[in-house]
Amino acid sequence: MEIKWFGHSAFEIISDENLKILIDPFISNNPVCPVKVEELDADIICVTHGHADHFGDTMEIANRTGAQIIGNHEHSVYLAKQGFEVMGMNIGGTIKIHNIQITMVNSNHSSDMDFIEEIGAGGSACGFIIQLERGRKIYHSGDTGLFGDMKTVINDIYKPQIALIPIGDRYTMGPFEAAIAAEWLDPEIIIPMHYNTFPVIKQDPEEFARRVESINKEMKVVILEPGQLYKE
Ligand code: NI
Ligand code: MN
Repeated sequence: MEIKWFGHSAFEIISDENLKILIDPFISNNPVCPVKVEELDADIICVTHGHADHFGDTMEIANRTGAQIIGNHEHSVYLAKQGFEVMGMNIGGTIKIHNIQITMVNSNHSSDMDFIEEIGAGGSACGFIIQLERGRKIYHSGDTGLFGDMKTVINDIYKPQIALIPIGDRYTMGPFEAAIAAEWLDPEIIIPMHYNTFPVIKQDPEEFARRVESINKEMKVVILEPGQLYKE
């Protein structure tokens, strides 16, 4: 299993059985992304919400690769009108695709589609828990503020071992809140995201790592550079 970061909240997960899952593929307009959108392949694309820095190149990549798009109901209606095959879902639901289970969970954010001319209503922003074939669960929170479900639903019920959470502040949690999120989620591995893409979300990930370590020494913060991957 591999988790590659493209900067911002864009990740590529290569599953135990070699499926390629992209999450929030903000590639061509992402100033820190080291790859070209044409280089990406995908079987599944998960979209957490309708903002351009997350929806990104979803349509371009799905068009070229035939990837299955997974997003909320409102996005699925919009994408179906553009001719895409989309699996729409909503908070609390789980989709089984191949041998992977994808559960949509709450996030505390907005989701309107800000990249179309007349901004379109985009339903609720979400996070995903992706359970791979051998059982590892990866939580991608999407953009979010700190919220209690991280403890009482996401940790208590789903227990993800790997958490991808934002630390950029301004539009999401900052390092202070994200360290509390880490404590509530209690995963083995945390990968910070949604920082240092733009000046307004500049953060020191090492400072975040120190905060997490002061709460729980067993938890490992994996700091990636755009283009780097975490593998197990
Ligand atoms: Ni957003
Ligand atoms: Mn964002």
